[in-house]
Amino acid sequence: MRHLVTLDDLSNFEIEQIFRLASGMQSQLETWAGICRSKLLATLFYEPSTRTRLSFESAMERLNGGTLGFADPSATSVTKGETLADTARMVTNYADIIVMRHSWAGAARVMAQYTHIPVINGGDGSHTHPTQALTDLYTIIRRKSKVEGLTVGICGDLQFGRAAHSFALAVARFGGKLIHIAPNPLQMPPWVLAQLEQCHGQIPLEVENITEVIEKLDVIYVNRLQEERLPANMDAAAVRGSYLLNAEVMKNAKPDAMIMHPLPRVNELAYELDEDPRAAYFEQSANAVPVRMALIASLIGLEQLILTQPPKRHIRTSTTTCTNANCVTNYETYLVPECETFSGNMEFQTCAYCGNLLS
Ligand code: NCD
Repeated sequence: MRHLVTLDDLSNFEIEQIFRLASGMQSQLETWAGICRSKLLATLFYEPSTRTRLSFESAMERLNGGTLGFADPSATSVTKGETLADTARMVTNYADIIVMRHSWAGAARVMAQYTHIPVINGGDGSHTHPTQALTDLYTIIRRKSKVEGLTVGICGDLQFGRAAHSFALAVARFGGKLIHIAPNPLQMPPWVLAQLEQCHGQIPLEVENITEVIEKLDVIYVNRLQEERLPANMDAAAVRGSYLLNAEVMKNAKPDAMIMHPLPRVNELAYELDEDPRAAYFEQSANAVPVRMALIASLIGLEQLILTQPPKRHIRTSTTTCTNANCVTNYETYLVPECETFSGNMEFQTCAYCGNLLS
C-alpha cells in the first residue's frame, strides 16, 4: 500500500505515469469512469479548503466512487479531544482512501502511520502540498511540454506557503531552474533550501522584487501572503501588500511566459491579467481534477500498473525533539520523534514529520 504524504513518496517515473494516466482521463473521461465503483474517499478537512476538497470529490465521483467526510472539524470528535491516531484507526473501516488537510505540519504522516488505507496529504500546515505540486507540474507540461530547462520564478510568501515548498522541490526534481522572489522575511525556509542543494544541486537566486528578474522567467508562480500563519512577532504590516503581479509588470515578461497561482488570490495577482493568454491559474485549478483522478486510481485501483517501488529513504527514531512549534509531534504526544537523513556533500537531518531541519 502506498501513501502520498510528501512528493518524496513518489519517484519521477511514477509521477510521469500518473500524468500519462491523467492526460488519458482528461481526454476520455467515460473510459475510466467505473474504476472506483464501490470505493469510498474520506475527505478529512480540518482546515478551510475550496479547490482541494471539491476537486478531490469531483475526481472520485467522476470515477464512480463515493465520498464521505467533513469540512468543519468543530462538528466532529476533535472537539472532544480525539487524537489523529484514533481518527485514522476508525476511518480505516469507513473508506478505501483518505485525503486530509490539517493545520499541523506532519499531520498526514500520522494518519498514514495509523491507518490501513492510502492517505493523501491535502496540505499540512506550512509544510507541504504534494497534490498541488502535481497539478502545477502537469499544467506546465501541458503548456510547455517539459519542465527541464525552464526558468521558474516563485514569488510571494515562500516562508509559510506550503504550495510554494512542494512546487519548488518538484520543479527542481524535473530539472527546472528556480528563482525565489520575496521580501526577506518571507524567503524560502532553510529546510527547502537544504533539500534543493543536497538533492538537486540547486542554490536558487533570491531577489526581493519581481521586476529584477521578470524578463528571464518562463513560469511566474505567485502565492498569497499566508496571513493566518504569520507568527505574532512578525511585522505583518511590513510584508502586507509588498508584492503584486499586474499588467504593468507583465509588460517586460516573455510573450510565452506562464502565470500560475495555486489560488485563492487575495491582492497579489491583478484581475486585469485574467484575460492575458499567459494566465494559467484557472487552467491549473481545472487540471486538478484529472490529476487527482489519476492519483486516486493509482493508489487504490491501478496500483500495480502505475506504481513501482517507493523511493528509498533513510528514516529512523530520533533522540532530538522537533523545535518547530507547528509540528504535529508537539501536539500528539504519543508520537515517537523520527528523523530523515539526507547525505551527500553536506549531511543533514530533518524531522520526518514536518521536514524541519534538526540541529
Ligand atoms: C493553497 C493551500 O491551501 O495551501 N491553496 C490550494 O490548495 N489551492 C494555497 C493557499 O492557500 O494560499
